[in-house]
Amino acid sequence: MAYDFDTVLCRTGTDSVKYSPSIARRMQPLLPDDFIPLWIADMDFACPPEVLAAMHARLDRGILGYSAVEMPEYGALVSGWMRRRFGWDPDPGSLVLSAGVVQALETLVSLLAKPGEGVILQPPVYGPFLRSILRAGCRPVESPLRDEGGGRYAMDFDDLERKAADPSTTLLLLCSPHNPVGRVWREEELRRMARICFDHGVRIVSDEIHADLTRLGVRHVPLASLFPDDPRIATCTAPSKTFNLAGNALAHVHLPDSDARAAWECDHAHHPNPLSIAAVRAAYAQGDAWLDELRAYLDGNLARIGTVLAERLPRAVYRVPEGTYLAWIGFPGTGLAGPELLAVAARDAGLLLDCGERYVSHGEGWLRLNAACPRSLLDAALDRFCRAFAPYAGG
Ligand SMILES: Cc1ncc(COP(=O)(O)O)c(C=O)c1O
Repeated sequence: MAYDFDTVLCRTGTDSVKYSPSIARRMQPLLPDDFIPLWIADMDFACPPEVLAAMHARLDRGILGYSAVEMPEYGALVSGWMRRRFGWDPDPGSLVLSAGVVQALETLVSLLAKPGEGVILQPPVYGPFLRSILRAGCRPVESPLRDEGGGRYAMDFDDLERKAADPSTTLLLLCSPHNPVGRVWREEELRRMARICFDHGVRIVSDEIHADLTRLGVRHVPLASLFPDDPRIATCTAPSKTFNLAGNALAHVHLPDSDARAAWECDHAHHPNPLSIAAVRAAYAQGDAWLDELRAYLDGNLARIGTVLAERLPRAVYRVPEGTYLAWIGFPGTGLAGPELLAVAARDAGLLLDCGERYVSHGEGWLRLNAACPRSLLDAALDRFCRAFAPYAGG
């Protein structure tokens, strides 16, 4: 490997949310001082050296004034990445910028749905989906994923059809790949879901922030690549999860609907941080090799979780996710709700994790563990995890 993912980097003193003792204690007062945080979705790896070098070079110019990217040149760079990685060729002219995907979701729901209208989401799903619906004064309409057992999930198309058929329902928020269950939706699934939506006049916002982080051999299909330039689809993408740039707060929205784009540019135009622009340019121009090595490393981590759990916690449910670096681990039949699972993890293992209840609904009895860390740290965490949960899910 040309790049180093094994070195454990100290994040103390870097203002990291993940490692913040005060945030951690507020969440879990029983955590010991040497807690291992495997919750919020950023990685314990340094950004690619090419990205850091570009940011250093930009910093050396000395001035960090208000900044804007030049279109369509910047849009072409983003589209070039999408073309190389996914064979998707979005129109660079449809691109708008946002200070993050969550902010983009909130803006998109308010632009594309009217207060009181129904917006479909597929829980268990990333919590801010629900918040973006409520903030826009819309009505959340849950079409839960079907738990098929063994950690495998699918869309419930019959339920989706029923929900989409309500004329007051006008928008669906798609999580693709899906956080937290780790599905990478197949082309047939996406086509079927979109057909149901379009037949009933429901538009789609596709959050594809995890698109780059599929297992090697698993192909992410951008929804919009199946319906090129369709104004009924808005796609959110970002280099933030991919290159560990979340704090840089720069995300992309491919918005072919020209009215919505005009409204966005009028009321929500984003002036990005100049260091973020330099980072994105370098990441999308030079980040392929680093990303491919990262994916191989994450594959190893997620497989390791499977091996260890099968051996030491055979009654826990886990399936290697097709995408994301997030392990979704179930404890069926233990009678433990999420807050109790979190308390066991904190008190008996010194681990800070997320519980299924944070994912809108249908996540009770599950934990989410962020596996994007050096393998030695993961191994230490897994050992503690297995010892703490052996009374509940051991052999
Ligand atoms: C599905 C999904 N969307 C959005 C985000 C956050 O995006 P941002 O940090 O760009 O607001 C996350 C972070 O975990 C996520 O999992």
